[in-house]
Amino acid sequence: MSEYYSVKTSFYGKHCPHDLVKRFGSPVYIYNERIFRERCREMAGLVSYPNFRANYSIKANSNLELLKIAREEGMLVDAMSPGEIYVLEAAGYQANEIFYISNNVSAEEMKFAVDRGILVSIDSLSQLKLFGRINPGGKVAVRFNPGIGAGHHEKVMTAGKKTKFGVNMDFVSEVKGILKEYDLKLAGINQHIGSLFLEGNAYLESVNSILSIAKQFEDLEFVDLGGGFGIPYHKQEGQERLDLSMLGESLTKLLLQWSEQYGKNVLFKIEPGRYIAAECGALLGTVHAIKQNYGTNYVGTDMGFNVLARPVMYDSHHDIEVYKNSDISGANEEMVANIVGNICESGDIIARGRRLQKVEEGDILGVMDAGAYGYSMASNYNNRLRPAEVLIRESGEAVLIRKRDTLEDLIRNFII
Ligand code: LLP
Repeated sequence: MSEYYSVKTSFYGKHCPHDLVKRFGSPVYIYNERIFRERCREMAGLVSYPNFRANYSIKANSNLELLKIAREEGMLVDAMSPGEIYVLEAAGYQANEIFYISNNVSAEEMKFAVDRGILVSIDSLSQLKLFGRINPGGKVAVRFNPGIGAGHHEKVMTAGKKTKFGVNMDFVSEVKGILKEYDLKLAGINQHIGSLFLEGNAYLESVNSILSIAKQFEDLEFVDLGGGFGIPYHKQEGQERLDLSMLGESLTKLLLQWSEQYGKNVLFKIEPGRYIAAECGALLGTVHAIKQNYGTNYVGTDMGFNVLARPVMYDSHHDIEVYKNSDISGANEEMVANIVGNICESGDIIARGRRLQKVEEGDILGVMDAGAYGYSMASNYNNRLRPAEVLIRESGEAVLIRKRDTLEDLIRNFII
């Protein structure tokens, strides 16, 4: 237990995972406020360029309580849907703090943001024309695709030559034409090259690209460089963290140099999601069955892919910690097993061939670094209930910040 990362970071504070599960049920997402705040501050202080803000990309985790904390930390936010805008408003965010990064949206959705005075980023020439028709003379941002992607999986590379995102950087003059036609003011341009990089080269390269696009437009208020800052999911194997100070220094140099040439201290933004939320969260679940099927060990838990989709969707790795029910049994024994959930699909695997301290029924497993794209991608598949979310406050108190779904929730929207 002592070499556990959760012990090093005092993740559960004074609480023991078994007590948390007894109190809040299983499975359950546990968040740590101190870690969440630390990550907000690291991102806000990434560069020493004077006009810089970090946007929290709330798709990673949009729990209302975390959003309120992000706001206290001075984070701006981006939203990807009217739903995210709605939740942000509920958390106290003002229109001028929200950036709506739209992608293939209806006129109604664009209006939803425009009517609230929220700046919209547009993702294609055809949607820029639509925006012009809806809001002629208005302010707008355009998302460019710098032709370079990065990410931990093909599915999360959001720029480059093979993705649906952004306006091809060769279309600057077409963009200018549409801006002129509808008398639109281009407030800023943005990009997002993909999710999870652990060394900064591709990011820096993409920043160079977007800066080369930015200089073709006059009088921009901001340039948004995107998110994607990775976290080490393989901590148990000693994986290194992204070197933020090195990346920050290189970025600062680039931004200072560029704005000197541009003749204006443009606002630079980044939009991290994962970096802020991932490490503040762990998913706790209970072992209900141990079995061997034709030579493979299976540890059967209540953490199906309805609770955490990442391993199934992207073959993502999460470190797993075993919290034994009793200190005596199996303390020095190990096993290699597939850790699986309770969903009726054989792909329902959280970890494949994982070496673990020997696990028995009643033990609790902690799936680490699950704060980003964990709950936000959870579903009711198999009519399972999405878990509760609990926050360990800086004061040490553990508080329920979202209830577990109820059975009634499952039939709430049916017309009977
Ligand atoms: N900005 C835009 C426009 C995005 O599309 C995204 C993420 C972000 C910012 C934040 O990226 P981050 O800093 O979190 O890498 N579900 C996947 C990740 C999908 C990311 C989609 N876009 C996963 O669990 O790995």
